[in-house]
Amino acid sequence: MATNIKTIGIIGAGQMGGGIAHVSALAGYDVFLNDLNDEKIESGLATINGNLARQVASEKISESERQAAVERIRSANHMEALGSCDLIIEAATEDEAIKRRIYSKLCPVLDRNAILATNTSSISITRLAASTDRPEKFVGVHFMNPVPVMKLVELVRGIATDENTFSRAREYVDALGKTTAVSEDFPGFMVNRILLPMINEAIYTLYEGVGSVDSIDSAMRLGANHPMGPLQLADFIGLDTCLSIMQVLYDGLADTKYRPCPLLVKYVEAGWLGRKAGRGFYDYRGDEPVATR
Ligand code: CAA
Repeated sequence: MATNIKTIGIIGAGQMGGGIAHVSALAGYDVFLNDLNDEKIESGLATINGNLARQVASEKISESERQAAVERIRSANHMEALGSCDLIIEAATEDEAIKRRIYSKLCPVLDRNAILATNTSSISITRLAASTDRPEKFVGVHFMNPVPVMKLVELVRGIATDENTFSRAREYVDALGKTTAVSEDFPGFMVNRILLPMINEAIYTLYEGVGSVDSIDSAMRLGANHPMGPLQLADFIGLDTCLSIMQVLYDGLADTKYRPCPLLVKYVEAGWLGRKAGRGFYDYRGDEPVATR
């Protein structure tokens, strides 16, 4: 276990926050899971339980490891409960205003030595850090989805992040058994800078009628050995998240090559946000996903 870090607070019990709680508890950390209300926390805990059970079934972990991990995760329905945490990881919605509001409520209750990390997939770490009372103890820790399966975590220093904070964050990621890739603080960091333009290009390929949803996905699964086709992956990430990352790349790098595809914008406007909404490039409401175009 990383020196000094014993207790982790996680803000956001969704796909990413829940996954981070899952892997942290399995690695032996005590975890406080926070969200806007008890319902969201309960739903996050149910998903974590389901995913832990899946790992027992496939013999990735033992039943006693599952049990111990479940017991280490506590529900924290108000910020004050995070006051005793050594490391807090914010995994809230990818919206800068929401993140800033969270930090302004959170910072006054934190221990002055606590590290504040964000799982943002593309917002500037330096700018987020500057809105807190501890820019030198602020760091980007970007997990990939699904967190229990994906081996990589991007570590991102803001301009003010001090060495001690960075090395403690790295020790924490090492203790999870994951590999770090260090990225400078530029839009999209590394993974999303490369992955999202590929997904956006797949959507342009669909928009321009070059191929159907099924043929584009088959092409990349079978022709490039990707585990999921790019449109399937877009639905998995969430089309709202994909659009917001493209917008960050477009605005932050000021290059038209990052312009979001109008078809992506249309799906988001329709509320067809991918798997979590039951519909995106595929319709998930039946037994098998069916392409929507
Ligand atoms: N928790 C625990 N285990 C899980 C899991 C979860 N949430 N999801 C999948 N698994 C496990 C399954 O139990 C299964 O385990 P076994 O092999 O031991 O049986 C294994 O993972 C494979 O899962 P499946 O058999 O269900 O399906 P699959 O072989 O199609 O794999 C996948 C699923 C791992 C998601 C794979 O399709 C994949 O790697 N897809 C690409 C994912 C990817 O690119 N992620 C990055 C997205 S970008 C990002 O996250 C950054 C961002 O900011 C947007």
